[in-house]
This record gives sequence, C-alpha cells and structure tokens, in this order.
Amino acid sequence: MDIEPIATLELTRWTGPFDDATRAAAQDALESGKVLYFPKLPFLVGNSENSLLTDALSNGRAKNISRDPDGKIQGDAASPEDSARLSVMMGRFAEQARALVLTLFPGYADRIDQARTSYRPVEIAGRSYSPRTDDKRLHVDAFPSRPQRGRRILRVFSNIHPMGGARVWHVGEPFEAVAQKFAGKARRPLPLEPWLFDLLGITRGRRSDYDYLMLGLHDGAKLDGAYQSNAPQIEFAFPAGTTWMCFTDQAMHAALKGQFCLEQTFHLPIEALAHPERSPLRVLERMMGRELI
Ligand code: SIN
Ligand code: FE
Repeated sequence: MDIEPIATLELTRWTGPFDDATRAAAQDALESGKVLYFPKLPFLVGNSENSLLTDALSNGRAKNISRDPDGKIQGDAASPEDSARLSVMMGRFAEQARALVLTLFPGYADRIDQARTSYRPVEIAGRSYSPRTDDKRLHVDAFPSRPQRGRRILRVFSNIHPMGGARVWHVGEPFEAVAQKFAGKARRPLPLEPWLFDLLGITRGRRSDYDYLMLGLHDGAKLDGAYQSNAPQIEFAFPAGTTWMCFTDQAMHAALKGQFCLEQTFHLPIEALAHPERSPLRVLERMMGRELI
C-alpha cells in the first residue's frame, strides 16, 4: 500500500503532558483515518483483577461485555464479586482512555461524548458469524440500530492479554477509495422507512442518507469476497501491553485474532475536528454532490 495506515507514538503516560508537535502530528494522522499506535502505553491490570482474565465471564450470547458510562454492566456471566471488579476495571479504563483523548486532542473536549466501554475476553480466531456480522472481514463501523447522522466514532483499544497474545488486525485502504467502490451500491431507504424504524424502535433515532450510505459501505465490503482477498491491506499485530485508537467509521479494519481487549467508544460531531472536510460525511457529500443529513 502506498499510504502507511499506522502512526506510532512512543507515549508512556495516559495523561500527558504532550508537546504541541506530538499533539498536532497525532491529530493530523487520526483525522486522516490512520490508526494511532502506542506501543509503550499498557493498561495495567491489578492482581485482584486477574480473576477477570477468563472467557467464562462472557455470557456466551453477547460478543462483548459492555459498561454504560453510569457503571451498569451488560453481557456478563460473572459472580457478583467479579461483576463489581469488572465495573471498577472497565471504569478505570474508561477514565484513562478519556484522559488520553482529551490531553492529545484538547480541541475535542467541549463536544465529545463518552459512550460505552467494552471488554472482549473471547478469542476471535475460529468464531464463526454471518459475513455481515463478521468483524474478521474488512469494514468501516456502521451499526443498523444506531444512526450516527454524521457523528464520528472514535475508539481506543488496549490489549490486556496476560500471556502475551497479540491482537491481529488488518488495516485497509483510505476511506475515499472504499467510498468510491461501495457508495454507488448502497441501498436507498423506502419512503417513510427511516421514520418508521425510529417509531418502532428498530433504530435509536432516525437514519439519515449518510447512515444508509455507511451501512452500504460496511455491508458492501464485508459481503464482497474478492474485495476481502484483493483489497490493499496490511496485517498488524498489537502486542499485549499496547494501546491504539482510530476513527473506526473511517479506518478500514478487521480483527483476525486475539483475546482480552478493552475498548472505549467516543462520539464526536464533525464541527469539533480540525479537518471536518476529511470526515466520512464530507467525503460522501462531495462524492454524491448533495447534503446527506
Ligand atoms: C472491530 O471493531 O471490528 C473489532 C475490533 C477488535 O475487537 O479488535
Ligand atoms: Fe469494527
């Protein structure tokens, strides 16, 4: 691939301070759709939290255990003691991820929303899903029930594997190239469909044209076997004890292998970006020649 999709930053603290040059370079790379990789930034798991490093904590139905910003845990099968420990560990990760994002990107502070934290204790390799729900296939994030209406999805990941297992990703081509290939094939809504889905609670809020296009990119890429095999992509292994982040609605990604990962999601309106013109919304609007919200 001619564009290096990973930018490495040798930070050793979640809370800074970071100098201006580091922050500017990080923001430029992030908003270009690159993955920011922090090889020296581990999330530390306490001794009393070692009992949480087992896939038996997952309830088997949900892929991930999630924690709402108010501390409520979902998708776990943990004892009350472990459930409480889990909430504390995930809460600490949520705090550190927030500190990292806000010290690196102070310009986001006023507009950022902290969404759910997830814990992914189940090995990815060997799990089988339908192609559309299989995150082992390259995709940009877009969720059928959660319209974003142009809002960005920023995610911070830490690999906390206790025995050194890497988390292996594929990272693909720039968003413009993905949009060029799949936007034209996106399904258009039926009349009243967005309104009806919202009314029936199928979606949380009304899907915009932007959301239909993003779902089209997500599904189009995942369902295209030739694209999956032949598209420009690199394989990257994030070792245990490392952290990374990206706009997952922009960076083409797939998670192939790995166990024990923490993830924090943030939402951000494009007005908070230094380069709103690089956002998926603006790229798609330029391509379609009209407003999409
Ligand atoms: C994904 O966002 O597609 C999965 C990322 C991961 O669990 O490593
Ligand atoms: Fe994803």
